[in-house]
Amino acid sequence: MKRWLAVGAVVASMGCAPTPAAEVGRALFADPRLSSSAFNTVSCATCHDDGSSDAVERILAGHTLTDSVFRPSWWGGAAPSLQAAVDNCLVFFMREERIDATAPASRALYEYLLSISPTRPAPPLPMTVVENVADVPRGDPRRGERVYQAACADCHGDAFTGAGRMSALVSVVPDDSVGFAEQSGFPLTTVIVEKVRHGPFFGIGGTMPPFSVESLSDDDLGALLGYLVPLQ
Ligand code: HEC
Ligand code: HEC
Repeated sequence: MKRWLAVGAVVASMGCAPTPAAEVGRALFADPRLSSSAFNTVSCATCHDDGSSDAVERILAGHTLTDSVFRPSWWGGAAPSLQAAVDNCLVFFMREERIDATAPASRALYEYLLSISPTRPAPPLPMTVVENVADVPRGDPRRGERVYQAACADCHGDAFTGAGRMSALVSVVPDDSVGFAEQSGFPLTTVIVEKVRHGPFFGIGGTMPPFSVESLSDDDLGALLGYLVPLQ
């Protein structure tokens, strides 16, 4: 994966003369080794755009981090500081246990976020979490396949087989949920909606990020269900 740059293996700056610390931070942004856990395989770049990708069609769980530093609040108001916002991600999604804000890596990451945050102040971004999930109507499977590629495949690999998934800790979608659906009595579609909308929260656990309504619309989710759980 091209995003997994080695720390320090960064090409020269591109005109706007960022500080060397910001350059290190740019590499860390895309490096899973920012987390000290050997089981972590994701980086900030797995879930956030930083304005550097050439707008490939990706649906990301997290907001863009362009202009993220001078927002008045984060996580839809739930995180009162930038540090709290980043800590959430490190703890919930990147298996990090202890965070040292004064460590050189944290400083470098901050310098990088600063270098891509020209707007002061910047408006807060909404994050609407669907609390009580309900099934959404199945949509067009062909659209659903595109949504899957854009939102899920980076981590889960191919649907139904898991080929190319990020690691063996990432489930095969939807097959690995079939057993739970049968045991619990919930339709498979509801189990998928629950996971996508809540990620590790509401007592579910795991490290998958939740997709808010802003990051994934109900229409796209419905299309996804049409693709993953076709009517027999
Ligand atoms: C597995 C996915 C994932 C990873 C990895 C991840 N984040 Fe997040 N992040 C999210 C989600 C989901 C949210 C909540 C939605 C939102 O506010 O963007 C979030 C929120 C944030 C926010 C608040 C944005 C706002 O304005 O509300 C910041 C800042 C942030 N993340 C920074 C980082 C940084 C820096 C890293 C790497 C150290 C990182 N994240 C890694 C998924 C992730
Ligand atoms: C950042 C990586 C990442 C992304 C993006 C992601 N997932 Fe996941 N997902 C995981 C991981 C890791 C697990 C297993 C651990 C857990 O439950 O959190 C998982 C688990 C699941 C499960 C539960 C499987 C089971 O064992 O019951 C479902 C369903 C699922 N994902 C669906 C999706 C769908 C649909 C999308 C796209 C909208 C998606 N995921 C996007 C990482 C991701």
